[in-house]
Amino acid sequence: MPNSVTIKKQIRQFKKKIIVSGDKSLSIRWILFASIAKGISVAENLLISEDVMAAIESIKKLGIKVKFEKKRCIIYGNGIDGYKYKKNIILNAKNSGTFGRLILGLLINCQHSIKLIGDKSLSKRDFKRISDPLSKFGANFKLKNYKNLPLIIKGSSNLKSINYNENKGSAQCKSSVILGALRSNGTTIIKAKKSRNHTELICKYLRLPIKINNKKNYDQIKVSKADKIKPLNYKIPSDISSSAFFMVLTALSKNSQLIIKNVNINPSRIGIINILNKMGVKINLINTKIYKGEKNADIEVLSPKYIKPINCPANLTSQAIDEFLVIFLVAAKARGVSYFKNLSELDKKESPRLKWGSKILNKMGIKNIVTKDSIKIFGNPDLKIKKNVIIKNYLKDHRIFMTSVVAALTFGGNWKIHDRDSIKTSFPNFLKIIKKLNQNDKKKKYN
Ligand code: S3P
Repeated sequence: MPNSVTIKKQIRQFKKKIIVSGDKSLSIRWILFASIAKGISVAENLLISEDVMAAIESIKKLGIKVKFEKKRCIIYGNGIDGYKYKKNIILNAKNSGTFGRLILGLLINCQHSIKLIGDKSLSKRDFKRISDPLSKFGANFKLKNYKNLPLIIKGSSNLKSINYNENKGSAQCKSSVILGALRSNGTTIIKAKKSRNHTELICKYLRLPIKINNKKNYDQIKVSKADKIKPLNYKIPSDISSSAFFMVLTALSKNSQLIIKNVNINPSRIGIINILNKMGVKINLINTKIYKGEKNADIEVLSPKYIKPINCPANLTSQAIDEFLVIFLVAAKARGVSYFKNLSELDKKESPRLKWGSKILNKMGIKNIVTKDSIKIFGNPDLKIKKNVIIKNYLKDHRIFMTSVVAALTFGGNWKIHDRDSIKTSFPNFLKIIKKLNQNDKKKKYN
């Protein structure tokens, strides 16, 4: 099969019900907590993707037994100090920033040096933002060029608590320090700019020594050493970041309606819903429930008559951080000029996504003005692409691939989109769901 897709036809109108795969942030966090719990933890609907498998393979190298049985994943945790630190361990985080960064928090007590490597994209990303705070606990790091992978970590047996100011709005930095604090003597105090709070919610659910004080612009989090972690059985809800591609596909299609089942709608992740709402897209949350501290619901999206431009409030940035590429497509169809600011973190993702957002819009013929941390998009509600568009991202960013597929299916043109393999990192069945939406089904209201 070629490692590219060619799309020449726009999607037909649809009325469907879909299920997208399990949430990536929760899947990786479940693996990490289960690996330091005492006893057997079972997950249902774990995302099976390369990022998640990188986490599984790595904890196995740390002496943790993992089994897959039917649709369940079973992890046999050996307790909080249960990792077996042999000599010369190499962990490969592949494309996963979340796994690569969070695992370091749990390795700050390793007796022997451990090498952490990643793929080309991850090796370009900043790991100093993690090694700086974790060094303060007492761990030692050697990084390539002082900030990149490969890195070598050597832990300490005398870990002390720290005070940490997380000012980027990075849940990966915050979570890595929370995990480090669970291993360290004393109480660590974190002042964190708002970001996704799955790690805190799991800690609370497991009754670990964590106290959270939510202020208007930041959270104060106090974490103390944990003696014991209970096993955690978890039914992973669907991923809102994967759902976002289908929400936007519906928003950009005519007379269409979509229900996405049981999606995690943690308030720190729903920027896509808030932004689409502000742009005139009707979204209903159905069957909302709380599961182990997390909010989940079915999301219904109705395609609007027209799309309004947005001056996107800066406080929505972290809530929609992984969704901006596909959100820019909505702005491309708006009746007017949209403005997105505070986006400096976007160029620090799997590829420089702010630059790529602008590049895709240019290829589509949409005027935009991009700065270091903002983009102004001049929407064209009548846009019909007639030319050839080729997308090839040398860092193989999965979200660039999926965004391009959504653009091809909604704006027309003759698209060749390279690196379909990239979806294996986060959403391997993305194209299967696209195919299902493109299939006619006249009998049922929803399929
Ligand atoms: C994630 C946090 C975000 C996000 C990433 C997943 C997480 O990264 O972009 O896809 O699971 O904690 P940052 O923490 O770097 O913002």
